[in-house]
Amino acid sequence: MLKIIIMILDKNGKHTHVSQYSYLGKSLLPIRKNSVMIEMRVICFQNDIFMQNTIIINQNRYHILQKPLFDNLSMKVRKTIMNLHIFQNQQELNEAGAGIITSLVQMQPKAVLGLATGGTPVGIYEELVKAYDKGRVSFKSVTTFNLDEYVGLPVDHPESYHAYMQQHLFAHIDLPAAAAHIPNGNSADLDAECERYNQLLEEAKQIDLQILGLGHNGHIGFNEPDHSLISGTHRVELKAETREANARYFNSINEVPSHALTMGVGTILKAKTILLIVRGADKAEIVHRALTGPITTEIPATLLQTHPHLVVLLDAEAGRFFE
Ligand code: F6R
Repeated sequence: MLKIIIMILDKNGKHTHVSQYSYLGKSLLPIRKNSVMIEMRVICFQNDIFMQNTIIINQNRYHILQKPLFDNLSMKVRKTIMNLHIFQNQQELNEAGAGIITSLVQMQPKAVLGLATGGTPVGIYEELVKAYDKGRVSFKSVTTFNLDEYVGLPVDHPESYHAYMQQHLFAHIDLPAAAAHIPNGNSADLDAECERYNQLLEEAKQIDLQILGLGHNGHIGFNEPDHSLISGTHRVELKAETREANARYFNSINEVPSHALTMGVGTILKAKTILLIVRGADKAEIVHRALTGPITTEIPATLLQTHPHLVVLLDAEAGRFFE
């Protein structure tokens, strides 16, 4: 039996999130008294900078985790632990993703949703709109926070994430405009804008369900690979590979903004549940590394391995290394 303690500390070193789990078969059980702890992972934020360490067995020594936790487990057990589902067609994946969101909102009408943009969630948003049209769900008491927005792209530019959200979701459902939050990449004072967004997130307390896509380089939100990661909302310079990937939406790569505002990994990891969605053969390798490889800030999505409630939906192409 594997037992893991996960702690996320806030930037002042105070515990903001402590979970204890043991993985036994299909269920996550609280650690029992007298059980031998074989590993403890600690994620902490100091001075707003992500630092990662692993403590082994009750000792106060910090070690960087070298060996993937799941190394010795069969793929079947790994998939169970990771709550990972592979779909043979896109429609099934879209319905499953939308189903998770609508069930949450039905049970918890005041849910706080973290939203992603890009190609990945489009089909899921389509299904949400259908569910709304059929009267199966209402978003009138929901609050949303988008992960990111380009810097310097007018909100009415068709590729701004403001425009994307209107086009794919907001214009078609009853979510009040004031309850939909997206960072303002056109603010004259971007630092103040990040502070404002962090403040709003703090007032909302916790995101109930955070939807994530995955970048080819392992980014989540626009948290790009780096030797350290920032916990709160911040301005980021987009990597060349990210601009290249997103150039498909613009006339040329030169039009893709060089910077963005993004929610930080601390906020993402504080979400109650994370729904990671990945499609396509070109992401098969990175999603496999993200979920089974060593945790490193050079692949920000590896941090998701520390989250106690991660649900992963993959299409068959993206999931081929998990079969
Ligand atoms: C978008 C976002 C990004 C994308 C990722 C994948 O809000 O935060 O992390 O999810 O770049 O993009 P697509 O889905 O276009 O492949």
